[in-house]
Amino acid sequence: MLSCAHTASPGTPPGLRCGIGVARPSALGMPKRMESSELGVESADAIAHLNLLVRLVRNGEINLDQLDELVAPLPKPVIDVKDLVQRVVALPNDPAAQREAMVDEVKASLLEGGVDLSSENISRVVKAMLAVPREEFLPPWARDFAYLPYALNIGSRQTISQPFVVALMAMAATIPPGAAVLDVGTGSGYGAAVLSMLADTVVTIEIKTKLARDAEQQFSALGFRNITTVIGDGFAGVPAFAPFDVILVAAAASQVPQPLVEQLKPGGRLIMPLGPDPENEHLVMLTKQPDGTLRQVTLGPVQFVPLTGSGARA
Ligand SMILES: C[S@@+](CC[C@H](N)C(=O)[O-])C[C@H]1O[C@@H](n2cnc3c(N)ncnc32)[C@H](O)[C@@H]1O
Repeated sequence: MLSCAHTASPGTPPGLRCGIGVARPSALGMPKRMESSELGVESADAIAHLNLLVRLVRNGEINLDQLDELVAPLPKPVIDVKDLVQRVVALPNDPAAQREAMVDEVKASLLEGGVDLSSENISRVVKAMLAVPREEFLPPWARDFAYLPYALNIGSRQTISQPFVVALMAMAATIPPGAAVLDVGTGSGYGAAVLSMLADTVVTIEIKTKLARDAEQQFSALGFRNITTVIGDGFAGVPAFAPFDVILVAAAASQVPQPLVEQLKPGGRLIMPLGPDPENEHLVMLTKQPDGTLRQVTLGPVQFVPLTGSGARA
């Protein structure tokens, strides 16, 4: 059955078991709201059902009107399955064209927030996202949904961040060519792959062994040669590769891990979701000053999966 831990507001497109909400930028490109939007596809049956609906419509075995009948028997669906299937089947067949559609949607959100899309920084992020095959970092059942603007379940009770959030974090980081980047929370590996197109080297650390191994295998299979994957608690950073120009953390905590601050170069930026609890999180950008102190800018409200390990909230 379909369940939803965080019900999306009416009209909000559904996400697929996401830990990160749907972000929309406000002025200066910062999200003015981020709504958790989950299609809690918790069971294998529900996943199979969803994939089947997509296949049936794609193959012309049923039409969209008939979807109503097939969706109706689901017990109290909290997401609009029909809308979701409709969106998937409306996507172009070619993954490259799907990627362009995804990036266009990200750009539209940025534009809506008043962001100047002509900046070199944004062009580089857009180019990187156009180059990375998001579907290759997803489990088979989720691939149909790779280019929709949602966070998705990747197994191990974790998520791949939604494309807009990946763009927002990379954009805020302003990664200069030649940069050394630390990515905490490898997850699917997609975020690290995007960062690797912008930086000289990326070290990505993941606490869940299976996720780290799967991502590492994909980096190798897809030819991402400047990414080093480490299995461990990202709270401690990766001192052997420090210092870093940029550190991105894709899981939320109540405080910035001190080892990460120490592993950041002066002038470097650390982007992470911070807050006392999941209902009160903000994406923040911290810039390390020459005297070692941090200057903090809040980018907007978010909801991420929690940082586990030593930096987990009490
Ligand atoms: C939102 S997901 C990451 C999404 C990822 N950037 C992607 O593109 O798929 C957050 C990840 O952080 C990992 N994580 C949580 N706590 C961690 C820790 N202390 N150290 C390393 N990874 C951690 C989770 O296991 C999860 O895979």
